[in-house]
Amino acid sequence: MSGAVPLDLAALESATERALRAAETTAELAEAETSALGKRSALAGAHRSLGALDEEDRRRVGRELHELRGRMEALAAELRRGLHERERAAALEADRLDLTEVVLGDLRSPIARGRTHPVTQTRDALEDVFVAMGFKVAEGPEAETDWYNFEALNMPPSHPARGMYDTFFLELGEPETIVLRTHTSPVQIRLMEAAVREGTLPIHAVAPGRCFRRDTADASHLPVFHQVEGLVVDRGITFGDLAGTIEAFTAAYFGPEVHSRLRPSYFPFTEPSAEYDITCTICLGAGCRTCSNTGWLELGGSGMVDPAVFLACGIDPEEWSGFAFGFGIDRCAQMRHQIPDMRALVENDLRFLRQF
Ligand code: DAH
Repeated sequence: MSGAVPLDLAALESATERALRAAETTAELAEAETSALGKRSALAGAHRSLGALDEEDRRRVGRELHELRGRMEALAAELRRGLHERERAAALEADRLDLTEVVLGDLRSPIARGRTHPVTQTRDALEDVFVAMGFKVAEGPEAETDWYNFEALNMPPSHPARGMYDTFFLELGEPETIVLRTHTSPVQIRLMEAAVREGTLPIHAVAPGRCFRRDTADASHLPVFHQVEGLVVDRGITFGDLAGTIEAFTAAYFGPEVHSRLRPSYFPFTEPSAEYDITCTICLGAGCRTCSNTGWLELGGSGMVDPAVFLACGIDPEEWSGFAFGFGIDRCAQMRHQIPDMRALVENDLRFLRQF
């Protein structure tokens, strides 16, 4: 009876095992399982031919076939785990990001470089204009004492003008009140004190830097912003010197079609004081939405140094006179490049920043 069925189980097992082991991917393994263990496999055929055996052989061979199938299914499961692990590792390797890798890109073109931020570019350009006019560039600290930020600038405690500055306080009272400077004007005091100490009057200096106010950001205000301060202290300085300096700067930086205007105003540290406006860069003075149809845009403040400020620094206001001004660098960048919303300057969107 045994000749009617492929009872060479050892040969069947090794052929099945070979077919399974030949698979190199989980997909190939799935195919091998179908053809070696599925309905049309030699193994299934052997099961079907059991019916032709007598009862005793059928039981014995049936059990052996069942065990053989069990071994082959276990083998397939083990092979699948191995192949799956290998494929996962290969996929991870292919996906890997090497953040330290230097990407040369097209070797014929130069490596892409970063660039300075538009506010930095504006600050540099402003410095260039003032240096060409004979000013020195100075700097002061961003955390200031109440004395430099307010008191020496003729704003004693409880002076109502302090209300113009929404101040961040770092330390209150003892031993000193420390604030994040709300403007660059405290650098004026530091410059005058140093010139008195070192006997280096006169002063012609600009001081650019970062300032802070508790403002909610909107299209024309940022809580962290930049100003450039100007200070001239010399003998016989007049308001005409201030107006001429401001006009010369405006034309040099914004171009000959943009002019300056000084409008009466009030600051505690200057007398008289003036608001510094420039021709609206959007409509060039014709009147538009940006300038509320006035043709002018406000850039900052200015005036003749108040005698009280000279006295606070130990300078004799009978011998010396001077002017000062301060305006926003971010505002300058906004007007020069006609940026509708100042918040674009701090959003770090490369599509915006790459334009400059
Ligand atoms: N510090 C003033 C502010 O931020 C601006 C200012 C006005 C600066 C008049 C000056 C000045 O130097 O003379 O509001």
